[in-house]
Amino acid sequence: MNCVDDFRLRLGQHELVPIVIGGMGVDISTAELALEAARLGGVGHISDAMVPTVSDRRYKTHFVKEKLKQYKYNVANDDKKDVQFDLAILAEATQLHVGRTMEAKRGSGLIFVNCMEKLTMNAPKETLRVRMRAALDAGIDGITLAAGLHLGSFALIEDHPRFRDAKLGIIVSSLRALQLFLKKSARTQRLPDYVVIEGPLAGGHLGFGMDWAQYDLHTIVAEIRAWLAAEQLDIPLIPAGGIFTGSDAVDFLANGAAAVQVATRFTVAKECGLPDDVKQEYYKASEEDIEVNGISPTGYPMRMLKNSPAIGDGIRPNCEAYGYILDANGNCQYIQAYNREVAAHPGAKKVKVWDKTCLCTQMRNFELWTCGHYTYRLKDTTRRHADGSYALLTAAHIFDDYRFSKDNAIALPVVAEAAP
Ligand SMILES: Cc1cc2nc3c(=O)[nH]c(=O)nc-3n(C[C@H](O)[C@H](O)[C@H](O)COP(=O)(O)O)c2cc1C
Repeated sequence: MNCVDDFRLRLGQHELVPIVIGGMGVDISTAELALEAARLGGVGHISDAMVPTVSDRRYKTHFVKEKLKQYKYNVANDDKKDVQFDLAILAEATQLHVGRTMEAKRGSGLIFVNCMEKLTMNAPKETLRVRMRAALDAGIDGITLAAGLHLGSFALIEDHPRFRDAKLGIIVSSLRALQLFLKKSARTQRLPDYVVIEGPLAGGHLGFGMDWAQYDLHTIVAEIRAWLAAEQLDIPLIPAGGIFTGSDAVDFLANGAAAVQVATRFTVAKECGLPDDVKQEYYKASEEDIEVNGISPTGYPMRMLKNSPAIGDGIRPNCEAYGYILDANGNCQYIQAYNREVAAHPGAKKVKVWDKTCLCTQMRNFELWTCGHYTYRLKDTTRRHADGSYALLTAAHIFDDYRFSKDNAIALPVVAEAAP
């Protein structure tokens, strides 16, 4: 057993290549990327983060413009309680994104949607219920519950006809989080079909505090595996975070993991949703260029490139158009931070806000360059063009490298494989 292809992930009647491409919100893990994973026999994720926005961009709908028009009167108001999502439109946008993706699916793999609880959207329960149900209605193969404890999430869909047939999984970063989830969901008489265990080296938001560096993925996986065995629970485990080579993956698979979830290597894929110039920033990054900070208004630490234009950018909150981080009372930590700076600099045309960022607008505009810890190794996975820029890769090249590589080798693209 020395390459990933020697293993298989079994989920119900499906037998899959044990490579899962993780969800990367606001359309960084595009339909095109997820479709490649499925075509090649693995699992791909799309994300439902800011799905009306994504639908506008991809399918030429006008959901954001219409929401802004409806709430324009509130733009100057600090209180955003009124700025509610229309649940029918949220369902429509989700169905469009998921439905179109599923229609295009080829191959034996699966496509899941990454569904973050921390997108509280001014009505946490109601909006999450609609997002999950609409994805199931549109034929998604599975839902990965992310960024939150999701203690009530199974209950929100337990009466859906696909509740037992769709694959449902959760991302946790500790045994404690998994225990809580299982305890709270026990009433629905349904175990998760898989558990992604995300360690401290992942991209996006982290399920750790600022002491993330003291944790280690192997240790957390071993702890969870031992506890599940003692409880006689058989749930496939999928480690994630810092698995950079096929051999890193084999280390986990040989120790009982069912699959691995990976993302950072795919941020420089042609099919990834980041703009090409941003992909070059990921390639160029050195280890010192990457930090974990507290600027996300979700309250979770987030890893990103230090030169992300979002950092310090004091733009006016855009909750009437977006508003995905508004909590149940219409608050977002960025609004307070922004107002504080405006009050401290009367008359200033533009303020700087360093402690929080307007996550919606910045992610929507690809100005917040979240990334995994090993982003600084991406430059070793490709070739350079004569002008010094790095060649983008195809998702298939990266997927196959994970699948077939041995001895920690990373296959460089032959020129024809490098996307133009
Ligand atoms: C650019 C980027 C964006 C991400 N966005 C999300 C997200 O929206 N939701 C989520 O659950 N995880 C997100 N992640 C985490 C990945 O899905 C994945 O679990 C993790 O990054 C795997 O580790 P790796 O990047 O070291 O391979 C993101 C990761 C990256 C690199």
